[in-house]
Amino acid sequence: MMFKLAATAALLSLASLPAFAAEECQVNVAATDQMTFETDAIEISKSCDTFTVNLEHTGSLDVASMGHNWVLAKESDVQGIANDGIAAGLDNDYLPADDDRIIAHTDLIGGGESSSTTFDVAELEEGGEYTFFCSFPGHVAMMRGSVTLVD
Ligand code: CO
Repeated sequence: MMFKLAATAALLSLASLPAFAAEECQVNVAATDQMTFETDAIEISKSCDTFTVNLEHTGSLDVASMGHNWVLAKESDVQGIANDGIAAGLDNDYLPADDDRIIAHTDLIGGGESSSTTFDVAELEEGGEYTFFCSFPGHVAMMRGSVTLVD
């Protein structure tokens, strides 16, 4: 009987995990050889001062053929950054230098590599539409998701 109660308590704590996860102030995002992020939406708690994204490329293709980064910007700035990123080239991780439209970004990485970025949550405006994406040429259409500020 005691065992059954303990199991029930464990199930209840599992059920409440998403709420705790939102207050962890960090998220792990996997990117693949299939040109995808295994995450399509990220919620950031307003209670976080900073937020960290840990990007892991779980594939095996190299950075020049299937490079991935995690870039955060306003939705309305995404296409412009992606276009300028192509012009910036691989040597600059396909991102324009010192660009105020970029709120945060990781390094561009290949298979088996990881890169993290931490940014101030105060940079996000309440109700703003934010998007994360990969700036490798041709990836922005498939590799993108939403970033939302939540209570
Ligand atoms: Co990519």
